[in-house]
Amino acid sequence: MDSTEAYNGQKLWDTSKPSELVVEVAKLKGSGTALDLGAGKGRDSLYLARQGFKVTAVEIDENHLVSLNNKNLELGNKIKIINSDINYFKPNEKFDIIICGMVLHFLSSENVISMIKKMKLWTKPGGYNVITGYSDKNEVGKRPYLFKHTELSSYYDDWRIISYQEKLTTWFIKPGETDPRRNHAVYLLAQK
Ligand SMILES: C[S@@+](CC[C@H](N)C(=O)[O-])C[C@H]1O[C@@H](n2cnc3c(N)ncnc32)[C@H](O)[C@@H]1O
Repeated sequence: MDSTEAYNGQKLWDTSKPSELVVEVAKLKGSGTALDLGAGKGRDSLYLARQGFKVTAVEIDENHLVSLNNKNLELGNKIKIINSDINYFKPNEKFDIIICGMVLHFLSSENVISMIKKMKLWTKPGGYNVITGYSDKNEVGKRPYLFKHTELSSYYDDWRIISYQEKLTTWFIKPGETDPRRNHAVYLLAQK
């Protein structure tokens, strides 16, 4: 089954497309700098770079870095790619947009809290954060961290929350599996 075929009346997740909140934040901000923490193969970094943003992408997985580097070459090396554990990454600038998409559930609870604090600190006044991650409606124990009901939005009480949702992800097929699945997730877009 290809990644865009319909399943159960719904389209499967096309992981080459940017996330909806990133498309929305690009429209809201228009131009500027962006930091993508745990960029993966770079769907969001590539989209923002194509929209004219100056993007820094941080990723730790070698295979994902190869894929991102190849796509960045085609784009004329517009994205600054950093091979690092996001827990130890320290930028020397602030950003208009900071994204952390489907990454935080891989971190320990201490690191999740400190990562969100750092994201807020590294954002310019009027800038935006986009965070998505798994919620505790998923099976416990499969991921180190799962967000509780309203937990993620509570960390942004002092920002303008543009959108916050707790919902199921689109159906997707994990590499090596045949049956589509979907997970419970939280989705946040907030402005400083
Ligand atoms: C589910 S993927 C999401 C990728 C991308 N943000 C997206 O939305 O398409 C999670 C990514 O986070 C990366 N990641 C997980 N823990 C990390 C860490 N401590 N430092 C850097 N990257 C990390 C993984 O290697 C993987 O590429």
